[in-house]
Amino acid sequence: MPSALFTPIQLRDLTLANRIVVSPLCQFSAVDGNATPWHVQNAGSYAISGAGLVILEATAVNAQGRITLPCLGLYSDDNEAALTALVQGARVFSKTPIGIQLSHAGRKASTRPTWELAKGHNLKPEEGAWPLVAPSAEPFAEGWPVPKELDAQGLSEILDDFVAATRRAERCGFDMIEVHTAHGYLLHQFLSPLSNHRADRYGGTMEKRMQFPLEVIAAMRAAWPKGKPMGVRVTGRDFNDGGLELDDAVMFTAALKEIGIDYVTPSAGNVAPGMKLPRIEPGYMVPFAEYIGSRTGMPTMAVGLIVEPHQANEIIASGKADMVAIGRAFMDNPRWGWHAAAALGDEPRIPPPHNRVNPKVWPAFEMLHGKSGRLAEGMGHMTRE
Ligand SMILES: Cc1cc2nc3c(=O)[nH]c(=O)nc-3n(C[C@H](O)[C@H](O)[C@H](O)COP(=O)(O)O)c2cc1C
Repeated sequence: MPSALFTPIQLRDLTLANRIVVSPLCQFSAVDGNATPWHVQNAGSYAISGAGLVILEATAVNAQGRITLPCLGLYSDDNEAALTALVQGARVFSKTPIGIQLSHAGRKASTRPTWELAKGHNLKPEEGAWPLVAPSAEPFAEGWPVPKELDAQGLSEILDDFVAATRRAERCGFDMIEVHTAHGYLLHQFLSPLSNHRADRYGGTMEKRMQFPLEVIAAMRAAWPKGKPMGVRVTGRDFNDGGLELDDAVMFTAALKEIGIDYVTPSAGNVAPGMKLPRIEPGYMVPFAEYIGSRTGMPTMAVGLIVEPHQANEIIASGKADMVAIGRAFMDNPRWGWHAAAALGDEPRIPPPHNRVNPKVWPAFEMLHGKSGRLAEGMGHMTRE
């Protein structure tokens, strides 16, 4: 019997070999939106990490929707060609499904990569800053550029861009799509009462604020093959007074279920300054997944400081979530899936060229990873990725 973490899960026609997902992680390393050799090696290492699914970083559906100049995009033929090469390249050595997160940064676009924030968040005009759009003409924070309020034509163009990127993702060969409606980016800006002060049918009550994101996602779902899953990263809580709360996420998730979305990943925050953050401790957003999943019946992917195999396994075994998305622990250790399998007594999926480090045959494994990382006696054998 595999552990709960290593039990397969079915999402439409896609079977994930286990419940471990490499969370989307912006690399700020693209050129004109095109994936570079950095993305190829990074995605390649995650594809052999032992995870059941790899989701590529927030990828802009148009150039204006990039968070930073070097953000990944899927709005041009060159972008599509670069990501097709990445996906097809990874297929040569790995069967691990690869998904992509599609996004638009809205009023949080035109900023700098995290490692350049000392120079300030926003690009200067001479550095190539571009105009921003948002649900309302209100900046993210004092001193940030004022975005243009999207009119009917702007909204329709953005919906078309999400759909066009969905079609490109299919041609690239991606196995699934995740739509980004969290972390303060455009679709979150529509959902949150802190950033959406529209007077038309897209502003006001939660029902109205979720209308545009739902229209976009329904159009994407219709353009995406029926057999392939589509998930959504949602906001559990804004962590601001007067912001989104868990019951809003329940309402949004129930509506997403109606339009054929296959899972949600509840994350939090970053739609407005002045957040009142809770204690950030291991698994601090797992209760969001549990709350939303139990009230909607929607499969969930828990995220946020999930770092250790037994912790991840407990989340699945106890039914708090259906999958776990892991970010920084995979950045730290792109073999996380192998070591988790060893720790839980499951079979590590180690590619043949690395079979000499299988804990069954490498005496130094225990020296490096301790007894908890040891493959249980008599368990497992080499499997091909
Ligand atoms: C460098 C970095 C880049 C990230 N990029 C994205 C992203 O593109 N899309 C997204 O939804 N979350 C992104 N996140 C958030 C992670 O996916 C994840 O939710 C967060 O890091 C918490 O999980 P962890 O504790 O396992 O890292 C990013 C986080 C980091 C550290």
